Amino acid sequence: MPQTINILFLAAEAEPFIKVGGLGDVAGSLPRGLRALSSEDLKLDVRLVLPHHPAVKADSLKPVGMFSLLRDGVEIQVEVSETVLNGMPVYLIGGEPIRANGSVYSLNSALDAEKYAFFSLAALELANRINWQPDVIHGNDWHTALSMYGALTKRWEEGSRHVATVITLHNLPFMGPDASAIIEKYGLKLAQTDLPEWARVMPLPLGLWASDAIVAVSPTYGREILTPEYGCGLNEFLLSRGDAVSGILNGLDTASFDPAVDVALGANFSVDSLDKRAVNKRLLQERLGLPHDPETPLLATVSRMDVQKGIDMIFAALKMMKKSKWQAVILGTGDPKLEAEALKLQEALPDRVKVETRYDAGLARQIYAGSDMFLMPSRYEPCGLSQMISMRYGCVPIVRAAGGLNDTVKHGVTGFVFEKAHHMALAAAIKSAIKVFAERAKWREIQCAGMAQDFSWENSARKYLELYRSLIKKA
Ligand code: GLC
Repeated sequence: MPQTINILFLAAEAEPFIKVGGLGDVAGSLPRGLRALSSEDLKLDVRLVLPHHPAVKADSLKPVGMFSLLRDGVEIQVEVSETVLNGMPVYLIGGEPIRANGSVYSLNSALDAEKYAFFSLAALELANRINWQPDVIHGNDWHTALSMYGALTKRWEEGSRHVATVITLHNLPFMGPDASAIIEKYGLKLAQTDLPEWARVMPLPLGLWASDAIVAVSPTYGREILTPEYGCGLNEFLLSRGDAVSGILNGLDTASFDPAVDVALGANFSVDSLDKRAVNKRLLQERLGLPHDPETPLLATVSRMDVQKGIDMIFAALKMMKKSKWQAVILGTGDPKLEAEALKLQEALPDRVKVETRYDAGLARQIYAGSDMFLMPSRYEPCGLSQMISMRYGCVPIVRAAGGLNDTVKHGVTGFVFEKAHHMALAAAIKSAIKVFAERAKWREIQCAGMAQDFSWENSARKYLELYRSLIKKA
């Protein structure tokens, strides 16, 4: 009999059921990456739990059953359905607080607080109901943090078994709304924690406090959150957790993001047929209505329009580079102010700048495959996915040395890295990239080095497995 490790994996979103951002990519791939590590001696039984958002797309859903949680002395129903994804059981948790909040993340923080408290506590109870005991509960971000908190406080109060808990941090500034009243309504006590006072009522800090291990989505972000600059007021607390804090770099779905087979591309290519990449550049320039010129460097960004991503720095840098030869494409939606600024830039430079303010996965892939340089000047970037995709597609990234960008791009080898979060620093990096772009052979070397990187999930999944093992031993 192989040894089995049972892992209950919780997230607010996961591909292919529902995806809003990078968390959805990770929660869709990592559980399957972990299961793929199973061997004759070790079985990793990972099961994914998601809220049954109205927008979730799932085939052949089976009802698993209902149970109730007591909230303010009143029973509220938890409706659980199950589906299977490549052999992995996936549970969808439904109920009134989840239906009441139509979108995955609401602008109404009270609705969000109710929804995710309900989800976190129902997910915790689910394991008992399906008669399957997890060895590890693995949550992601604030939406699931009350599961870790609930697991610890229940263990203390009811003397239940120690189940190892892990929380992965994808974005520290999002801590969730004050949940103190809701926590008490569900019959949990607000514990005496060593968190800063303002944080003692918020889901994420409570989850960090309760978890056995805290994993940032890159080693650099794991160190950054211990500093005042990136620690969002929790740096002292996180420092006090010592060895419990680490960083594991996310992987990429390398089967989906593969320029050799990607059906969205006009011409497929690989490191051995890089010349064919030029077809994609021509098609992209055509599609966007940019003058067709293989010699003009085509700069790109595919991003949420958000100050976190430093989109404003891109606008400012491009404005001061009118004398150099370049074209740019900007794809993304988000902050209406940034969208308007992007469109203004397009108006000012109509034969150079093309802006598409929408979400378009197909166009995004054509941009990775057809443009020359990918701009990602993020003010902070826990991991980042686009820089990995762009390297895989032979598009050279120009990034700020923050978080996962710092861990994935090597200056002068696979891309260009600059330090200061300032548009002048970005402009200087773009200018030096444009210089190298003119030296064909050197540019190609950088493209090939990027394409040769291994960003597959296996490495990350192995690190998580090591962590689970060490925690189970301690528990
Ligand atoms: C968040 C972070 C991003 C990270 C993603 C997945 O969206 O902002 O850097 O790649 O989560 O972990």
